[in-house]
Order: sequence, then structure tokens, then C-alpha cells
Amino acid sequence: MKKTVTAASMLLVSVAALAGCSDSDASGDDDKIVMGFAQVGAESGWRTANTESIKESAEEAGFELKFSDAQGKQENQIKAIRSFIQQKVDVIAFSPVVETGWDAVLQEAKRANIPVILTDRAVDSEDTSLYETFLGSDFVLEGEKAGEWLVENAADSDVDGDGDINVVQLEGTTGAAPAIDRAEGFASAIAADPAIEVTASQTGDFTRDGGKQVMESFLNSEDGIDVVFAHNDDMGLGAIEAIEAAGLEPGVDVKIITVDAVHDGMEALAEGKINFIVECNPLLGPQLMELAEQVLDDEEVPERVVTEETTFTQEQAIEVLPDRKY
Ligand code: AHR
Repeated sequence: MKKTVTAASMLLVSVAALAGCSDSDASGDDDKIVMGFAQVGAESGWRTANTESIKESAEEAGFELKFSDAQGKQENQIKAIRSFIQQKVDVIAFSPVVETGWDAVLQEAKRANIPVILTDRAVDSEDTSLYETFLGSDFVLEGEKAGEWLVENAADSDVDGDGDINVVQLEGTTGAAPAIDRAEGFASAIAADPAIEVTASQTGDFTRDGGKQVMESFLNSEDGIDVVFAHNDDMGLGAIEAIEAAGLEPGVDVKIITVDAVHDGMEALAEGKINFIVECNPLLGPQLMELAEQVLDDEEVPERVVTEETTFTQEQAIEVLPDRKY
């Protein structure tokens, strides 16, 4: 399935440049597997670690990587995928910004005989023949782990001692798989304790600024906030800034639960500003390259490859931080 570089395909490289794709290796080496990767953007520490993992692993595996950053916009990702199809890459991998709206472009890749691998986030499509496999976390499980911790620590989390545990939720990007699934998993776990209620929920778009702004508005509009559940560390870190600016102590006056376990989040956990983190592993590069090789060798691959993940308390964060890679 390896590509032969023709004059026509070289011409199309400039179309790719117009579409915002950058060639990390434009050598056109016939022996190399050419992967087009359409990334979400650079919205969080998690995403930066994920991008580095993909670039490093592609280099180690001897792939030519055509990397495109969609800056959080689905239309940019679609443009990048179309440009990869025009360039006749060997394989396309992408992490969809949102779940829906992919069928048309994935049909185009299928017609061009270019296999597609979903990584990190899933698409909501009935036609599973449009992609080879999906490598990434179980986001529903991540939300459940966050909710289960809260149920187990309900007594300590009733910060104002009124018998109710009021949770405000900082959601990820609207329509994105991790935002939808983490909210679902969290809601199903906290249903075990009727005293726990999500009293307000709004998107902070997975960014630190977004988390800060939404938390500022929650602090103005909501009474008796006991807990923040942030769908990622960055929004949790933004919430910490807002809580401190309001003269409150994060982790004590307001309990904070987040997802990711990137370095800054783990430091805040070690300092007691975050109370619990559910891990979401961004180091997907090595497995992605392996899956791509298998797909191109016509080997059978599992429909779903789930990333192994853990959770961290303050004590565990202190222990693992010195050796943490991201
Ligand atoms: O899709 C993974 C999520 O996207 C991470 O939890 C978040 O930090 C990122 O932006």
C-alpha cells in the first residue's frame, strides 16, 4: 500500500501548504510510510504532550509525518484530511474536534483507498467501515472514576456542612467526545448519592482561560459551591486562579476534581489545590505507529484499543511527580 511519489502528487503538496499542513519531512522518500495527522489544536497541556508523542514516535518508526493543527476548528480538520487525500498519503490519523459531521470526508478517504485511524477521540458515525480502528481512552470510565471518588469522599466534600454537595462542572469543548462522555460517566456515578448534585455546568473549551472565566461567573451566580468537576486539568487550573482571586482556598474551601494528570495538574494536586485527578494518557504515538504499520500490512487490528489509565490522590502525585514525563 506504499505510495509512489509522482509529479502530480508533488504539485499537490503545495495545495497542502495552502490548507495549512506542514510537512515534517517532505523528502518524498518512496520507502517511508507517509502518515497525514490532523490534530485538534494546542488547547491544553494534554494536547501538547500528545502532539510531541506523535511527532517523536513517527520519527522513531521512520514515518514521514504530514502534521496539521486545526486550531480547534472542525472545518480546518476536514480541509487537512482532504489535502492528505489529494497528496495520496498512505494512512490518515486524526483526533476529531467534535463527534459528528465526518461521514462525507471519511467516505472520500475510503474511495481513495486510504485507511483512517481514529486516535484519542471517536466519531459518532453508524458506518464503522469508514475507519480501521479507534485508539484512545474510555472517557465514560474516566467520568465514572471522578464521580466514584466524590461518592466515596462525600462527607469531606460537603465543605459548607449543609448536607448537600453542590458541584459545578466545567465541560470540555461542546460536542467533543471527552466532554459528552465524561459528563455522562460522572452523572451515572454520582447518582449513587442523592446528596450530590451538579448545580451548574458550562463549557470552558478545555482551556485554562475558559475554565477561569466560567468559574468566575459560577462564583458570582451560584451559592454554596462545594466541588468543581473540571473535564481537564487546564480548566481546573483556571478555576484555581478564579477561586484564589475570590479569596477562597482551592482544595479546601472548594474541592476540585480534574481529568488528565499532566505535569501542572499533578503539581497542583501535590500542593493540595486539586483533590483528585483521573488520568488520561496522551502518549498515544507508539501504539498509533504500530497500528498504522499493521493496517498497511493488511494485518487484522482490533476495532477498539483502549488506553490503560489510573487515578491519583495527593500522596500518589507527590510520589510519581519526579519521574513524570509530561
Ligand atoms: O481528548 C482528550 C482531551 O482533550 C483532554 O482531556 C483535554 O485536555 C484535551 O484538550
